[in-house]
Amino acid sequence: MQERTFLMIKPDGVQRGLMGEIISRVEQRELKIVALKMLRVDDETAKKHYAEHAGKPFFNSLVEFIKSGPVVAMVIEGENAIFTMREMVGATDPAKAAPGTIRGDFAHDARDITHNIVHAADSLENAKREIDLYFEHF
Ligand code: CMP
Repeated sequence: MQERTFLMIKPDGVQRGLMGEIISRVEQRELKIVALKMLRVDDETAKKHYAEHAGKPFFNSLVEFIKSGPVVAMVIEGENAIFTMREMVGATDPAKAAPGTIRGDFAHDARDITHNIVHAADSLENAKREIDLYFEHF
């Protein structure tokens, strides 16, 4: 099924110079990048983005981290784009992410789960919500 998903390169991915590598992987997988922008996430947007984690012990550090430097937000389109991107990104905990995934290849020694390089929407509903949050007219 043709779908759209939301992908973000987090501040650690940008700072470590992994933008090109991540974008290349998406293109090589023949997923289409239909929107892309670099931005600083403000407090309100960060809290809305991670609303489902509000109240969890890691919520504040997650919000602070996503605001800590520029990020790259993308809308990705393709066959089973949501599942495919989640597979390419790997397990949330970088220490458990398989080799060949973005997190497994570049974040296996991350100092905590927050520093996991990328975020990819986990459902159709969240993909729509996150795309709406970062892009107009999509
Ligand atoms: P992400 O895919 O952006 O979605 C939620 C984020 O919360 C996740 O990646 C991690 O960066 C972060 N996080 C921090 N601690 C935890 C935890 N204990 N369990 C799950 N996610 C966590």
